[in-house]
Amino acid sequence: MITSPTNALHRHIALAGFMGAGKTTLGSDLALALGRSFVDVDAEVEREAGTSIAEIFAARGESEFRLLEERRIREALEACEPAVIALGGGALGAEATRKALRERALTILIEVDVDKAWRRVSGARNRPLAGDEASFRKLFAERLPVYRDCADAVCPDLEGAILAAGGVEVAPGALARLGELVPAEGNISLISDENVAGLYAAAAKEALGDRLVSTHVLPAGEDAKTFASFQRLLEDLPLERGDLIVALGGGCVTDVGGFAAATYMRGIAWASVPTSLVGQVDAGIGGKTAINIESGKNLVGAFHWPARVVIDPDLLATLPEQERREGMAELVKHGVLLGQPVWELPDAQMVRTSAAYKLRIVLRDPHEHGVRATLNLGHTFAHALEKAGAFGRPTHGEAVALGLVAALSISNERYGLDPAWLQAVEDVLAPQPVAVDRDLAWTALFRDKKVAGGRPRFVLMEAPGKPVWGVELAEDEARKALDSLIADS
Ligand SMILES: NC(=O)c1ccc[n+]([C@@H]2O[C@H](COP(=O)([O-])OP(=O)(O)OC[C@H]3O[C@@H](n4cnc5c(N)ncnc54)[C@H](O)[C@@H]3O)[C@@H](O)[C@H]2O)c1
Repeated sequence: MITSPTNALHRHIALAGFMGAGKTTLGSDLALALGRSFVDVDAEVEREAGTSIAEIFAARGESEFRLLEERRIREALEACEPAVIALGGGALGAEATRKALRERALTILIEVDVDKAWRRVSGARNRPLAGDEASFRKLFAERLPVYRDCADAVCPDLEGAILAAGGVEVAPGALARLGELVPAEGNISLISDENVAGLYAAAAKEALGDRLVSTHVLPAGEDAKTFASFQRLLEDLPLERGDLIVALGGGCVTDVGGFAAATYMRGIAWASVPTSLVGQVDAGIGGKTAINIESGKNLVGAFHWPARVVIDPDLLATLPEQERREGMAELVKHGVLLGQPVWELPDAQMVRTSAAYKLRIVLRDPHEHGVRATLNLGHTFAHALEKAGAFGRPTHGEAVALGLVAALSISNERYGLDPAWLQAVEDVLAPQPVAVDRDLAWTALFRDKKVAGGRPRFVLMEAPGKPVWGVELAEDEARKALDSLIADS
């Protein structure tokens, strides 16, 4: 039995939709964003036939065109390397194509209303089926149910397509639809923490219905990520191989819930339902899971992509202000990397854009072999400050805010990055120098790595939206930047 795919991590992405939906433009943008190759089936058919679609229709008839189209789609789907494939508007009419798509692709329907589609294509010479408006509208009505039936996801824009490719749903009120959003098979165990459970477990339970067989409430914060807490959770889980863990909470809950899913019975599926801002734009997305052990934070973990991520920005209403600030640091980092002031957007859109940004990077590099390193912008300095700190200060968010200041100041000096970006970081995050031991911080930043035979590598910004990674800094350059982040005690 083939169950409906929830993401395109190891699959092709097929874009379906009526003519005029914008599949070609969106498809090539999506391929670029995800670092995949792009196959435009109509263009491939024309290339193979050596003539236009209109000519093929006129000289050989539609049925001949459909055969060429079907063959091109089959070839594209048989390629091993996952690509983005823009299907022609009538391609889903063929049963063989529908079957092949179910097996090898995540099919995303690009929605367009009939009026807009007609405005876009009427009069186009190479659209043999867009001749008269009445037939166009009739064909639209006939095809729409077929598209909807075949689509694994429906979306209107590039951001939506990226989110669908990663199996991420971002929508106010999404928690109430949790039952229909998580994979359809198997029993469910819900994992949460003592704060979030009191606020949202009842709604989650109602949405999950009678598939829910157990609920596990962990301590809040990093205490959820201890080995003891993890072990207790595993001992208590009543699940089997085909079942599902749903992790509802901040980054601590999704980290431990995801790691339990990665290891329980050698790996079961899980759904991530992040409730903090850190979780919604960062921790709950991308498949990194971990617990802490005495020798270090996040030292034991696994890459285990969630079958579904359900982000309900409405849940942020109850998040304490300090926790929101923690999340804003990661969100501002995404905005700088993207070259777009996402922090100026209304909450729900801000979360959507930031989550989509993280997702597009991690979909390109799920196991952190390359471009995912750019998400460490500001983090090399931040980790050094955290290591030199004490009693939980600076917090991770405070340290990231300071790390961004250092990275952007150096980027300004080296590459002439517009100082407005540094100013924006200062305005939004208001980072304050922290009173930590300068030498300890310097050792953590530079010396430790030099002694270990390496050199610290930094992420900088050549321009807004244009990060460079693996950059080595001169010692005095790094020291000057670090010192400026530290207050005299
Ligand atoms: N896996 C990854 O890729 C990744 C990325 C970044 C961070 N992390 C991890 O995430 C953790 C930090 O995540 P965090 O900042 O979400 O911390 P957290 O999970 O401790 O949540 C912060 C606090 O907010 C509470 N909370 C969460 N959602 C709430 C809501 N909607 N309303 C009221 N209270 C709410 C929690 O109970 C907790 O007390 C760290 O352990 C970090 O290592 C993982």
